[in-house]
Amino acid sequence: MARGISLASQLLFAAFFIIHTADADIKLKMSGSPLQIAFSENVALECLLLDYSGSLDSETLGVLWKFGEADIISYAAGRFNKHWDNVDMSKEDLLRKNMTLHLRNVSVWHEGTYTCKVFIVPAHKVSGSITLIISARPFVTVSSPESVEVGREASLLCKVNGYYGSDIQIQWIRVKNDRTEFISANVCQGRPVVNLDGRYNVSVEAVVEPVQEDIGSQYACLVKHRSFSPNYIEKANFTVKEQKDDTSAHIVIGIVIGCLITLILSVIFYVYYRGFYEVSPKVSQIKVLSRFIHKEKARLKIDVSGFTSSTIQISWYRNEDEKVIKRWRKIEKALHWKRECSRDGHQSGSRHNWKATLSDATKTTDGTYCLSSELEFEPDIEEGLSTEITCEIMHKKGVKPIVRRIAVTIEGVPPKLSEIIKPPIVLHNVPVTLICPINFFKPRGITVSWCKKSKEGQVMEIVKLHRHTVLSEEIAENAQRKYEHSVDEIGFPDATYSMNSKLLFKPTIEEDDDFEYCCKVMHMSLREPLEIKVQLDIKVRPVIGDIICNTVNPELGKPLELMCKIHSFYPQPITVKWLKATEVLPESKIWNTYDYEDKMKYEVCSQYSLAPTLEDEKKKFVCRVEHESLSQPMQQEYTLPSLAIAPEVGTIWCSSSEPEVGRDLTLSCAVEKYFPRQIQVEWYRGHTRIDKEHVCNVERFEHRAFYMTSSVTIKPTRDDHCTEFRIEVCHSTISTKPIAQTFILKFPGLPNFLPFCLDPLQPVYGQPLALKCSVEGFDSKEFEVSWVQDGEELTKGVQNSGPFNTPVGYKIESVLNIMVTARNFEKEIIFKVHNNCTKQTFQHRLMLPLSAVSPEISEITLSKDVPRLGEITLSCTARGFSPGNIKVLWSRGWTDCRSSDFTQNLVLEENALADISFEERN
Ligand SMILES: *[C@@H]1O[C@H](CO)[C@@H](O)[C@H](O)[C@H]1NC(C)=O
Ligand SMILES: *[C@@H]1O[C@H](CO)[C@@H](O)[C@H](O)[C@H]1NC(C)=O
Ligand SMILES: *[C@@H]1O[C@H](CO)[C@@H](O)[C@H](O)[C@H]1NC(C)=O
Ligand SMILES: *[C@@H]1O[C@H](CO)[C@@H](O)[C@H](O)[C@H]1NC(C)=O
Repeated sequence: MARGISLASQLLFAAFFIIHTADADIKLKMSGSPLQIAFSENVALECLLLDYSGSLDSETLGVLWKFGEADIISYAAGRFNKHWDNVDMSKEDLLRKNMTLHLRNVSVWHEGTYTCKVFIVPAHKVSGSITLIISARPFVTVSSPESVEVGREASLLCKVNGYYGSDIQIQWIRVKNDRTEFISANVCQGRPVVNLDGRYNVSVEAVVEPVQEDIGSQYACLVKHRSFSPNYIEKANFTVKEQKDDTSAHIVIGIVIGCLITLILSVIFYVYYRGFYEVSPKVSQIKVLSRFIHKEKARLKIDVSGFTSSTIQISWYRNEDEKVIKRWRKIEKALHWKRECSRDGHQSGSRHNWKATLSDATKTTDGTYCLSSELEFEPDIEEGLSTEITCEIMHKKGVKPIVRRIAVTIEGVPPKLSEIIKPPIVLHNVPVTLICPINFFKPRGITVSWCKKSKEGQVMEIVKLHRHTVLSEEIAENAQRKYEHSVDEIGFPDATYSMNSKLLFKPTIEEDDDFEYCCKVMHMSLREPLEIKVQLDIKVRPVIGDIICNTVNPELGKPLELMCKIHSFYPQPITVKWLKATEVLPESKIWNTYDYEDKMKYEVCSQYSLAPTLEDEKKKFVCRVEHESLSQPMQQEYTLPSLAIAPEVGTIWCSSSEPEVGRDLTLSCAVEKYFPRQIQVEWYRGHTRIDKEHVCNVERFEHRAFYMTSSVTIKPTRDDHCTEFRIEVCHSTISTKPIAQTFILKFPGLPNFLPFCLDPLQPVYGQPLALKCSVEGFDSKEFEVSWVQDGEELTKGVQNSGPFNTPVGYKIESVLNIMVTARNFEKEIIFKVHNNCTKQTFQHRLMLPLSAVSPEISEITLSKDVPRLGEITLSCTARGFSPGNIKVLWSRGWTDCRSSDFTQNLVLEENALADISFEERN
């Protein structure tokens, strides 16, 4: 249930967060930041909503307090959701625009930044922050002996426990006659320790050896911390006393003698005791408290127990010859141990950071003492892989010391290797850097090598870097020129190193596609080299050509194809999508042809077919290519131009249903719905084009298309009877082939010519041709037919049949058989009918559909006749051409030329084409 509520309120918050208009008119008033607060106290973090005139209700108000990124408490939909136990808010205050957060019993973890976010549905959102700083005031205690005589040493200890705010300064001071002196010699400051609640403890010890002037001085511990203002001073109950003087001994000589006797007795007892009862201390083996890692604190410990002597000396040595690590001496009856932090302690050099500590001696129930000594130091591998540590305990002068030894081997820290870093996309023939990250190892000496592995397991080393120690430089062996190797490195304060080994080269598909690159690392702390590998997966980016449309002028509704060619990519998988603007087009209209023959020349040709509608006009068609080598799809665009529309040409209509000879007549034709406007309209009478001046075109624009009515006005003659009138409409943007409509003009009451029949349909030069024509509609048989070309009647090869009587009057059929020659080219053949009764003649004309043929020109030859002086004859022949009219031009050099008409010399060849020879005399 509670979970449900929390989910609901989270959803509500999600909704609140969507409010994106940060309103300038509402504000928050926050407590002043930073806010300093004492440890374990309660605090109110003020957050007041200002300048909001409306009243708040629990349905529309949302409040969220955050600590850093974490939610502390939220209020939404009238409910609180608490993530921390020690926080509170009041609902009544909230609705009164007071979002103050109460925080109880603050601990050090509560230090940080608090954010108050207020949402008012629907459109207000505001937030403000406060930084809270927690301070814990320490308990300062000092301990010291009550007094010390001049010339003796005493240890003063100042313990500062439970502070927070890690910055602290602790000093021992000596005050005399209002003059304050800082004690700096022989001061040991411990390392702060952290309590469970996050507060710190630290202590500072000073060993003082007062002189005569110090009598009357006061000693104190001075603590500077943010929780104190001013600084805190804790006085030590410690006084310096005059040195005991024995000049007055004369007066009390008897006492002295008595004392002397006592002393002698004591000495005898002492010697007796020492000789017979004083036992040698028990000394443990040296205990290893931590691992010995290069440049890391290592600790050794020795326990000494069961001794009664008042002095003891513990010395630590390193190796045989290097003496003095540390010496400890017991000096004082009250079992205060002098801690010589800075005297003997650093003799062996600060480089090693040798530091020994000695615990207080404790008295056990049997009256003997025990203590332990710890040695802390940082081993350095540069001084040898192993080192021998000796501890000597001497409890009595002249007695052989007790010796303990240990040999320690210093270890390194092995490097950590993560994955080889490579760019997300590796491209063919584009430089790439592979990075082998080698982290946190010590000491610095390391061997790194790069290699290349084939699928079959063949390994080829590329480069090897070898570095022995801190000082030696790396030695790199370059195996191949293709590669460049470099290293960058950082050293950390704890003497560890991190290194990036970088291999730069231009990978190619041929050389690297099936290979793995590996980085191998060897370090003294490893038994076997570490190896990491990477596969490059080289890719080649596709090249995408322009989109090509298979037609220059796309036509409305007429299928067309857009083609997009993509090539030179690698590897094979590729996706081609077609889009119209942003809409993805169906795959069923896409046809892809792949060519995966040559690894370096993969190719795909993608075709998209569509029948464009008006809606597609001016739309962008996009060919989009997705390939693993591309972080973003690649595309090519094509904008569909305005669509052309082919005209519809209607039938020709005539202005009069009964045309008469010599009376104006108009033929009209509707050319409809075409686009663009460019259009040619020609009218023909038979084979002759009708002059533009007789043509009238009326054009209009409607629904994005043009409409035209074309009319031609003629004054027909009798010869126009049965003539074909034709309109040819050429809309060249779509097709060069004209659209035609025909109309055959007939005068009522006149004989009717039936169309010419040609056999074969297409006449051929040099081949026979049968031309057939019929005429019908005569009242009587009294008429005759004839064929005419060039004003000459053709009598040969004419066969007439008829006249026959038919329901539409008498009819005659005539066939003209001719051999087709160049002479027929563009010559009209007229079929004439003469009515013997009315004396009227009707003509029906035909032009044979023949094409022109170019001549073949022979070489120029010199006449075989013996040339007469000053006269030569040159000849040349042109053969096989049609029509016969030809011009011949002789020239000498560039200038001298003569032309003549040779039509008379024309000869018809067997193939019925013209043939001519011509000569030139000079
Ligand atoms: C806001 O509410 C807190 C108690 O939650 C109160 O101490 C404080 O005075 C209020 N502030 C204002 C301006 O009303
Ligand atoms: C304050 O918190 C600490 C733990 O952080 C707890 O031990 C202590 O009892 C708390 N004090 C009060 C008054 O709640
Ligand atoms: C710090 O000092 C207190 C006494 O004031 C003690 O109880 C506590 O254990 C000390 N903390 C550590 C970590 O030694
Ligand atoms: C200082 O030490 C003496 C002797 O033990 C004692 O009498 C006196 O009360 C101590 N003074 C303080 C301030 O603790």
